[in-house]
Amino acid sequence: MQTNPTRDELLELLKGTVTDAAFRRATFAGATRGAATEWVRVVIRPVDLRGELYYQFAYQGAKKAVTKNFLADELEAPLDELIGNGFAGVHITTNAEEVDIRTSRKGRVHVGRHRLKQPAPAAEPEPHNRTKDVPLPEGKPDRLLEVMGIATPDGRVRPTMRAKFTQINEFLKQFGHALGDTDLARAGREVSILDCGCGSSYLTLAAHHYLNDVLGVPARILGVDVNEEVIRKSTDRAEELGAAGLLFECRTIGTADVAADVVFALHACDTATDDAIAQAVRSGAKLLLCVPCCHHDLNKVISPAGPSEVLRPVLRHGIMLQRAADLVTDAFRALALRIMGYRTDVVEFVATEHTARNLMIRAVRGSSVGPRGLSPAEPGFTAAPVGDPAPVAEYQEMKRFWRVTPYIEKVLGEPFQQLVKA
Ligand SMILES: C[S@@+](CC[C@H](N)C(=O)[O-])C[C@H]1O[C@@H](n2cnc3c(N)ncnc32)[C@H](O)[C@@H]1O
Repeated sequence: MQTNPTRDELLELLKGTVTDAAFRRATFAGATRGAATEWVRVVIRPVDLRGELYYQFAYQGAKKAVTKNFLADELEAPLDELIGNGFAGVHITTNAEEVDIRTSRKGRVHVGRHRLKQPAPAAEPEPHNRTKDVPLPEGKPDRLLEVMGIATPDGRVRPTMRAKFTQINEFLKQFGHALGDTDLARAGREVSILDCGCGSSYLTLAAHHYLNDVLGVPARILGVDVNEEVIRKSTDRAEELGAAGLLFECRTIGTADVAADVVFALHACDTATDDAIAQAVRSGAKLLLCVPCCHHDLNKVISPAGPSEVLRPVLRHGIMLQRAADLVTDAFRALALRIMGYRTDVVEFVATEHTARNLMIRAVRGSSVGPRGLSPAEPGFTAAPVGDPAPVAEYQEMKRFWRVTPYIEKVLGEPFQQLVKA
């Protein structure tokens, strides 16, 4: 145990430990008396970006989060700044030892080093891109999968969590592809994501981890849900992970005042999906991923009458009526997004024995970026203008056929209603 090292000694200790090949992670947290820092927690970890070893600093504040990557020879200034920030505790994990630097209330600094009895095998830095196989492969230790109870510390997927593991990877694959259809990953700034109806936040935490730690794209996520209990659990998990830029709030979808680049609505109940779509459109989100859940709204009102009389044999049976209403609801949603200037498609999400709710609506705002991230000057770019007459005509025809006004039209409000006015 070393007591009261000088600032230079501390800096040397940090530099030496962080740049050692055995280094895995350092967490700075807790404020000492009189500390003047905007950061609540800072986590450093090695990352492999384009084949080069960087040190990723994830700064988490009460209101914002920032991620910066430094080469080994650039570390002195950011490490020295962290020492000056006055964190009460620094915990460093390497494959050979645990280092704890604690500052007492009276300002005494204690450095404790504890060598591991069985040194862990050397870990490679997190690769920048593992998308060739699956986003989060099994058989490789992954702290996120471990904290979520999906995998063991050595990376084996727990048998009871296999379906969740598959769902997470399928979602991340879809997300990765859809992200490539936007310019967000290349924008050189933090991507802001809003997860509407985040529930237990498996997919929220996975998306955050995938962007920040696997793809090396700095991102922050706000997860919202009306259920206080799941928000509390999600916050606890985020804290346990020490992940920067993860916030959870108990609130109703559509009430968060955020300008999100990406909006998720994954299995949000009934018309909550429409509320999330409306929030995405209002805030000009570039990407929206929706996996609708139960549909009750149109189920109650569609019936064989007028033009749809011909479908009486289908709508007579409750189960077929429900499935027809599901499809009609999602077709209205996809059309509404096209009308609002989003390039939209509908794909199968994940085939699972646990849910038939496996349809995903993917929408990319099309004014500035084409499929696969094409810019307007590149061949293959097709604009997706707001109020395109083709989807407007289809939407009006669908309404005439079914004699309904879908909830999406109500929640998108006046600007949309003007566009689809017959
Ligand atoms: C089936 S869970 C899905 C959780 C998570 N997105 C997933 O896919 O694993 C649906 C969540 O949406 C939340 N929810 C439903 N309606 C909501 C609303 N209007 N505002 C906020 N949360 C809502 C519920 O509380 C629930 O936690």
